[in-house]
Amino acid sequence: MENKQKIVVTGAAGFIGSNLAERLLGAGYDVVGIDNLAYGRIEQVPAGVDFKKLDIRSKDIYPAFEGAVAVFHLAAKNDLIACQIDPVETMDINVHGTANVFEAAKRAGVKKVIFASSSALEEGEARLKGFYAISKMACERIADGYHAAFGIDYVLPRYFNVYGPRQDYRRLPHPPVMTEFILKAFRDEAPVFYEGYERDGRDFIYVDDINDFHLLCLTTDAVNNRLFRIGTGKSSSIKEIWDTIKSVMGSALEPVVKPGPEGHIPVMTKADVSDAASVGWHAKTSLEDGLRAQIAFLESERAKGNVR
Ligand SMILES: NC(=O)c1ccc[n+]([C@@H]2O[C@H](COP(=O)([O-])OP(=O)(O)OC[C@H]3O[C@@H](n4cnc5c(N)ncnc54)[C@H](O)[C@@H]3O)[C@@H](O)[C@H]2O)c1
Repeated sequence: MENKQKIVVTGAAGFIGSNLAERLLGAGYDVVGIDNLAYGRIEQVPAGVDFKKLDIRSKDIYPAFEGAVAVFHLAAKNDLIACQIDPVETMDINVHGTANVFEAAKRAGVKKVIFASSSALEEGEARLKGFYAISKMACERIADGYHAAFGIDYVLPRYFNVYGPRQDYRRLPHPPVMTEFILKAFRDEAPVFYEGYERDGRDFIYVDDINDFHLLCLTTDAVNNRLFRIGTGKSSSIKEIWDTIKSVMGSALEPVVKPGPEGHIPVMTKADVSDAASVGWHAKTSLEDGLRAQIAFLESERAKGNVR
C-alpha cells in the first residue's frame, strides 16, 4: 500500500497557502490544511486537502499534526495597517499562534517546521518598529528556541512581495499594488503614483517561485535551521509594474501623480538571494509572465461577479 508523506499547511485557505497546498498535492504529498477563514476563502482550498477549520491558537490543532513529516506555518495576521491598529491581536495570532504551532509539532514529533517570515525585517528601522515586523521577529526567535530546546528543525524564508493568482483582492482600502492597478485597469481608472515613485519599488516574487523553495525544503536538509531571503534579487519600480500591466492588458491609461499619504517613504527593496542560491534555488518567473497569470486570475474572478 502507498504510504504518502503527510504535510500540515496552516493558512491553507489564504493566498500562498492555497497555492502551496495545490503544489504539494501535485507532488504526491497528503496535505492537512488548517485555517480559521478569518481572511482566507474556503472555495480556494484545493480539492484533496484534508481541511480543518481551526484557529492556530487553539489546542484543538494538536491531533491534526499526528503523523506529519513537516509543517508549513503560514497562517498570520498580515495586513500591516490592521497590525498597527491592533498590536495585541497581532501578537496573539502571530506570536501566541506560532508558539502553539511549534508546540503542536513538538507533541506530534514532527521533525521540521517552515515558517513564513517576511522582508519587513529587511526594510530598515522604521519598518522594524511596526507590530507586524515585531511579531515576525518574535516568531523567528520561537523557531530557534524550539530547535534549541526540542531539536525541531526550522527553515525561515523571509519572502519579499509575493504576487500571483489568489492574492487577496478584497483588502480595503487598498489591495496590494499590482492587484490595485489591474482592478483600476478593469474600471478604466488611472492608477495613482505617489510623488517620488521613481525611487519606489519592490522585489516582487511570483508565488510559484516561493513554492519551488517550499518544495525544496522537504527534500534537502541543507536548508535546516537557516534564514533565507526569497525574492528575485531585483527591484521593480512602480512604473515598471504599471507599464507591464498596461502592455499586457492593452490599456492606454496614464498614471496620476499625487503626494503620498503621511508617512509614505519611497523605498526600493531587493533580496540578497545568495543563501537561497547556495541551496540551488532561484526565481524563474518573469514579471510579465507572473503578471499575465495574476491578470488571468482576476479576469476569472470578475467573470464570476466577484470583483467590480
Ligand atoms: N503575501 C506576501 O507578500 C507575504 C510577504 C511576506 C510574508 N508573508 C507571510 O506569508 C504568510 C501567508 O501570507 P498570504 O499572503 O498567503 O496571506 P493570507 O492572508 O492570504 O493568508 C493567511 C491565512 O491565515 C489565516 N489565518 C489568520 N489568522 C488565523 C488563525 N488565528 N488561525 C488559523 N488561520 C488563520 C487566514 O484566514 C488566511 O487564510 C503570512 O504568514 C504572511 O505574513 C506574505
